[in-house]
Amino acid sequence: MWNKVQETVSYIQAKTNDYKPNFGIILGSGLGGFSEDIQIEFTLDYKDIPNFPIATVEGHKGALLFGTIGNVKVVAMQGRFHYYEGYSMQEITFPVRVMHVLGIQNLIVSNASGGVNSSFKVGDVMLIKDHINMMPEHPLRGTNDNRFGSRFVNMSEPYSRQMLLKAKEIAKELNIKIQEGVYVGLQGPTFETLAEYKMIKAIGGDCVGMSTVPEVIVAKHMNMNCFGVSVITDMGDIENIDEVNHEEVLKAAKKAEPQVRNLIKNLISNY
Ligand code: HPA
Repeated sequence: MWNKVQETVSYIQAKTNDYKPNFGIILGSGLGGFSEDIQIEFTLDYKDIPNFPIATVEGHKGALLFGTIGNVKVVAMQGRFHYYEGYSMQEITFPVRVMHVLGIQNLIVSNASGGVNSSFKVGDVMLIKDHINMMPEHPLRGTNDNRFGSRFVNMSEPYSRQMLLKAKEIAKELNIKIQEGVYVGLQGPTFETLAEYKMIKAIGGDCVGMSTVPEVIVAKHMNMNCFGVSVITDMGDIENIDEVNHEEVLKAAKKAEPQVRNLIKNLISNY
């Protein structure tokens, strides 16, 4: 893994004139259009990057974008990899390792999720304050490479309190309505049954989705600061549980996109 990451980083550095971004961003649902907020200097298609997996899901593109937000240099993943697509945990988190070796210390992730907190509504923007890992495989299972991080990773602050605080200040200033809560990561690709949504709520979750947790775990392995935002695209309650489908999720995520973009843009340029 270490050698593969070095090989990929060398390729990227050669193609981007040794670009040194400060923020890494994973553009999930709700943040896809964020690429328009970046003054792009280099675009690398995943298919051209050695060792990179290739995105397969509709609505998710596959390119690494290098550029600036204000004065801040960023790299954004346009399109992420999901475990349910059939990749291994090591494959879906590979880009996070690459970002770290490129010198990135701050990771921003976005996703779409199903809400189970009854005070939430479809289209709400939820800052992720913590997560529960219910994925069936762990991205750090196997021999540990100490060059990346330690065997037993401290997860007491998976999402940076400082970034959360800053984001809340910004949301207040910009009049962006936000929720805050716990994201539960499940394998998917099925949406949850009613009984499963109830379980998510019972174990302390506020929403449930199929991504983000592996990336954040791997980022914490390398001691990065993480910030996560989730767009509530459906509610796991009795009235509309049978209406959730990928199109509805994309539609709801699209609607919340302007607020999410605004929030992240300001967080990056003011952090
Ligand atoms: N469950 C899991 N993943 C999701 C959901 C959901 O209800 N909505 C969007 N992604």
